[in-house]
Amino acid sequence: MPFSSLQKRIDSREARIAILGLGTVGLPLARVFCDAGFRVLGFDTDPERVAQLARGINPLTYLNHGVLETMLAGDRFSVTRDAERLSRADVLILCVPTPLDDDSQPDLSHVEAAAETVARALRGEQLVVLESTTWPGTCRRRVLPRLEASGLQLGRDFFLAYSPEREDPGREDFTTSDTPRLVGGLDEASTELARSLYSTVIDEVLAVSSCEVAEAAKLFENTFRAVNIALVNELKLVLDKLGVDVWEVCEAAASKPFGFMPFTPGPGMGGHCIPVDPYYLAWSAREVGVDTRFVEAAGEVNRRMAEFVVERTLAALAEEGIAAAGARVLVLGLAYKRDVDSLCEAPAIRILELLHEAGVLPAYSDPWVAEGPAACAAYLDQPNSLELTLETVASFDLVLLVTDHSAFDYAHIARHARLVVDTRNAFAKLLTGDPRYSKA
Ligand SMILES: NC(=O)c1ccc[n+]([C@@H]2O[C@H](COP(=O)([O-])OP(=O)(O)OC[C@H]3O[C@@H](n4cnc5c(N)ncnc54)[C@H](O)[C@@H]3O)[C@@H](O)[C@H]2O)c1
Repeated sequence: MPFSSLQKRIDSREARIAILGLGTVGLPLARVFCDAGFRVLGFDTDPERVAQLARGINPLTYLNHGVLETMLAGDRFSVTRDAERLSRADVLILCVPTPLDDDSQPDLSHVEAAAETVARALRGEQLVVLESTTWPGTCRRRVLPRLEASGLQLGRDFFLAYSPEREDPGREDFTTSDTPRLVGGLDEASTELARSLYSTVIDEVLAVSSCEVAEAAKLFENTFRAVNIALVNELKLVLDKLGVDVWEVCEAAASKPFGFMPFTPGPGMGGHCIPVDPYYLAWSAREVGVDTRFVEAAGEVNRRMAEFVVERTLAALAEEGIAAAGARVLVLGLAYKRDVDSLCEAPAIRILELLHEAGVLPAYSDPWVAEGPAACAAYLDQPNSLELTLETVASFDLVLLVTDHSAFDYAHIARHARLVVDTRNAFAKLLTGDPRYSKA
């Protein structure tokens, strides 16, 4: 019986695990399976990524130094680009990207290519799990047919489940192991095997009735964040006109112990997931003739925040009689959120672009982003991150805080900056009431 023998191999940790896609999601997952005593084969199509990992170079700044070396040294983890080696795996987990195409439509090309790679590695008695974020129905409509093209059959020869990754890069209070996991299979046996697999490494695993429930739950989680971020950003625009401090309002509202969840305003939103996933939901809705006005409006509001930030910056300059053309603005923080190095969908990039369009000469400082984004190279005053010395801060007409990294010395900046525009309320305690200070 393929089910019971696979189940035994998983329970005894003899099952060999292959992870396809060794990025933000795949690499930490490989680590927890290694730590639990499984042998893990990492497969990636990017030759540079594979070569780097094989040499023990960790591409994820937030995965502790030395973790990869330990994994490789322990002989439990190996990396490859050779798809032939995948046929030795009992469990194959797909952690490949699900971006948007040029028309902001779901791009499933990586999932489909990985499913075809897996199909060629199928030999029977294997569990396949998709972890990539995607629209409900992807496993059934896009992955299953490719696996069945191998001539093998779901439930008899292989099992297929979906389990959404909830990784939050840079977060320290939750890890892969103590973040509860959803699993949903295409049949009961697949659900059960996926539950057994993740229970070996994750404290709490919740089985749902289908792949589609698990797929939709992931989209709902991230759309929930996108919509609430948009709501608090829209509130910021309203309260700004009313002369009321949105951060104080947020703090006051958060004192309600039930029926409210705090979100804070900012310069927009970025990252691999929150700006992208609502489009997957909207696409799915359109397929069945439903209009998702709410979800789309959230995206629009969040994108507009960059304009608000730049308007505020230009107004602060104008109040001091400084013309936008030729003004020197130092942007603090380019990464899409605090204490990460990723520029993925970072609002700072749009802000730099808008500043440039207004004639400003922008430069930046970000301890996590040493080199400026290629898209901004043509107009960044300096191509690299500037060191925040007293002279640097004082030499700019205005300092604009976009990402509130912990490494910034806020008191030092507050003392030496000529003007400060703050999108994160980070200088509130230091500068409220100071004529040099405004919030955006
Ligand atoms: N980054 C996050 O914080 C996060 C959190 C939860 C869920 N997710 C979702 O997880 C999935 C993976 O995201 P990520 O951030 O790890 O992406 P990533 O870009 O960091 O890594 C993906 C890796 O997959 C590789 N790849 C691409 N096509 C492949 C193929 N056919 N076979 C094997 N490898 C292939 C790439 O070379 C890359 O190394 C996405 O669907 C994403 O939405 C991401």
